[in-house]
Amino acid sequence: MKKMRARALLAAVLAVCAGAPGGAVHAEERGYSAATAREAWILNCMGCHTGDAHGITGKVPPLTDELGHFVRLPEGREFVMRVPGASNSSLSDAELANVLNWLIYTRNADTKPADFKPYTAQEVAAKRRPALTDVAKHRAALIESLRKSGNTAVQDQY
Ligand code: HEC
Repeated sequence: MKKMRARALLAAVLAVCAGAPGGAVHAEERGYSAATAREAWILNCMGCHTGDAHGITGKVPPLTDELGHFVRLPEGREFVMRVPGASNSSLSDAELANVLNWLIYTRNADTKPADFKPYTAQEVAAKRRPALTDVAKHRAALIESLRKSGNTAVQDQY
């Protein structure tokens, strides 16, 4: 009886995996699990950045499209980890890496560089602190560097 139940469970698990063709495997290579990232997003970020991550004009920046430009430069990669909402969140380093990778791959796919390397827990642990105190200044410098490197698509206003 127990054996049968275990087998049924295994069959169900296999069926679910088969139903997502490569989805889980790909997400793993990209350094995130969609289910845990979505949960972390809802509990830690969405309250300010809004459900669809489009932000609030003039107040909260969108986390769509723009981040793909930012992570092209090392200082931009760091900026994303060090903004107070990310740096000071109660998420562990691995959880923060997970939610950032999920944001990049699912909401910034059109602007991220083709050779984007997913954030890792080690990288986040080494760089997320201290949180930035002058976010606007860092953001302006980052956008200027991106423009200098020929990126004209990046927006400075939100
Ligand atoms: C209390 C509201 C709040 C929460 C919660 C929050 N943020 Fe933010 N976030 C902001 C505001 C406001 C800014 C603009 C910069 C600043 O003033 O900190 C911002 C900026 C950012 C930026 C820089 C984007 C840009 O275009 O400059 C990133 C990346 C970011 N947040 C990620 C996150 C992530 C990831 C989470 C969840 C772990 C999160 N934030 C939680 C309010 C919040």
